[in-house]
Amino acid sequence: MPQPLSTRAPAKINLTLHVLGRREDGYHELESLVAFAGTGDDLRLEPGERLSLTVEGPTAPFAGSDADNLVLKAARLLTERVPGLRIGTFHLTKRLPVAAGIGGGSSDAAAALRLLARLNGMPPSHPALREAARLTGADVPVCLEPRARMMRGVGEKLGPVLHLPRLFAVLVNPRVPVETPAVFQSLGLKTGQSLAGASHPDIETYSADSLSRALKAARNDLEPPACTVQPIIAEALKRVAGTNGCRLARMSGSGATVFGLYDNCEVAAAAAKRIARQKPEWWVRATSLR
Ligand code: C5P
Repeated sequence: MPQPLSTRAPAKINLTLHVLGRREDGYHELESLVAFAGTGDDLRLEPGERLSLTVEGPTAPFAGSDADNLVLKAARLLTERVPGLRIGTFHLTKRLPVAAGIGGGSSDAAAALRLLARLNGMPPSHPALREAARLTGADVPVCLEPRARMMRGVGEKLGPVLHLPRLFAVLVNPRVPVETPAVFQSLGLKTGQSLAGASHPDIETYSADSLSRALKAARNDLEPPACTVQPIIAEALKRVAGTNGCRLARMSGSGATVFGLYDNCEVAAAAAKRIARQKPEWWVRATSLR
């Protein structure tokens, strides 16, 4: 029997997120600079005859039933596309908050596809992997190879891997789940409506200065509607922005997780400690991003 395989499913952070318009099918065209954190869930695949899933870890109780877990959805979509695919039991250690704007479920699904690809000797560029990722959810394709990139369309158009300077961040989730469709809906865009154009420079290698300028000139368009849906997000943003050395405080995805960026890991760790002391019930992590 082949050995179990494992991989990290890192948190996805939208450093920027611009909504460009609403399509006929209700999905929104986006432009987002995405990076990945050192912190995340862990996924192991034990090769076997049946496709199944176990979930444990601190946030497992919030992860929903097997039936709607994106790990199994992605795996099933791949088995439908690749005859004779070798499968097995997935063991997910869930640490990231759920429905939190940091792509926990999407990153888990992408990790499942990576493990199945390894087990079956499929190259990462295999079209069936891309197709299964796209059909699993809008954020899954960018998580397939978790490196910083520009993401466009509804998430399926990916730019080249970007070279970012190492970033030090604090992630803060006030432990309220946020329903992504509700946030997009409260943007109130009409079908077919387009918004003002993109504002991201086409840069592949960022210096600390050029990245800082690009981030400051950008925004997350979902922040105002998310703060309306869950006002505690505004409080989380304010607390992060108020920590020593915070260069930028912004929400990721459709929330509720917000991030702060810092110059080095010591300042980030001190900020995380301070917020965790003020708000012991919140989920707070200092981490690097790439
Ligand atoms: O694809 P996924 O199931 O992750 O998307 C969840 C919901 O978020 C969609 O049903 C849609 O309401 C909204 N969404 C959107 N535009 C995107 C991504 C998601 O409107 N680009």
